[in-house]
Amino acid sequence: MRLEDEMKQLTIRRPDDWHVHLRDGAVLKAVTPDTSAHFSRAIVMPNLVPPVVTTRDAAAYRDRILAAIPSGHDFTPLMTLYLTEGTSAEDVEVGFRSGLVTAVKLYPAGATTNSQSGVRDLSKVMPVLERMASIGMTLCVHGEVTDPSTDIFDREAVFIERVLAPLRERLPELRIVMEHVTTKDGVDFVSSQSENMGATITTHHLIINRNAILAGGIRPHYYCLPVAKREEHRLVLRRAATSGDARFFLGTDSAPHVDPLKECACGCAGIYSSLNTMSCLAHVFEEDGALDRLEAFASLNGPAFYRLPPNEATITLERRETAWDYPRKRNTGEDDITVFDPMFPLHWVAT
Ligand code: DOR
Ligand code: ZN
Repeated sequence: MRLEDEMKQLTIRRPDDWHVHLRDGAVLKAVTPDTSAHFSRAIVMPNLVPPVVTTRDAAAYRDRILAAIPSGHDFTPLMTLYLTEGTSAEDVEVGFRSGLVTAVKLYPAGATTNSQSGVRDLSKVMPVLERMASIGMTLCVHGEVTDPSTDIFDREAVFIERVLAPLRERLPELRIVMEHVTTKDGVDFVSSQSENMGATITTHHLIINRNAILAGGIRPHYYCLPVAKREEHRLVLRRAATSGDARFFLGTDSAPHVDPLKECACGCAGIYSSLNTMSCLAHVFEEDGALDRLEAFASLNGPAFYRLPPNEATITLERRETAWDYPRKRNTGEDDITVFDPMFPLHWVAT
């Protein structure tokens, strides 16, 4: 890492995004260049319709992603499989050993977008999880219960108590990433665990609390899952992300939905942040006096967890006097996707 000219320029190893949604078809083509412009690798979520369930599905999806990367961008998608109660441990192992599949994603059925095929009964997938533990493969977890009687703001904390803590006790060797952690409860739990458990933190959860969604009117472009929580939780996430602690690393959870699917009576969950994430993060880390730890969060801790080398290439972020007039929308050819608005001007620009 190099800080120059009284922090006007920051050069760090190229970051990776350990949790992103690239979708398929026209959206895939529209959003992939925003990820590949700044990130060398990304863990690509499998919640397509239909989901990426088998190694064969992952191979075909990987080819579609590779076809959407602009020439001149050096980007490697890291594939995941969507865990179902019918997933074969054999197929998971074959995918992992071949190098094609990096992780398996657990969605509790009904927790979020396209999660209907997820897991209802964890005991049904224990043979797969045991196989993953024995081969050292990572389980990425959407950590929310789906029980309708649990308040939506409590779903992460209840998941930890009912599902995650018992799973850790039952299978301590399994490598787990608690994805997009949003609460003090989540940060405390991950911090209390051994080093084979980590957590991703999104850019937007470092910036917004639940007021962004609800105060003064309903703002669908700030709605995502897990939903943003109270300010006290955001501050804990900021401390975890900017601490340099190796368990916490960047997973943007950039999740594009076209505007008609967000701006309606029952809008989809998801915030599209790939385009300006690095600028937002530089602002956040500067504000917290932690620019020297941005590289750990965005470029070092994730590869260390996934036991991959950090990227050799670098990225330079430059602090400009004039705020960056970033594109507010990405067009898919038919519809627009709204880009995350951090509600402060972006002076840091990735060059
Ligand atoms: O806000 C979200 N959007 N959270 C998720 O877990 C899924 C994602 C999506 O796929 O849209
Ligand atoms: Zn996600």
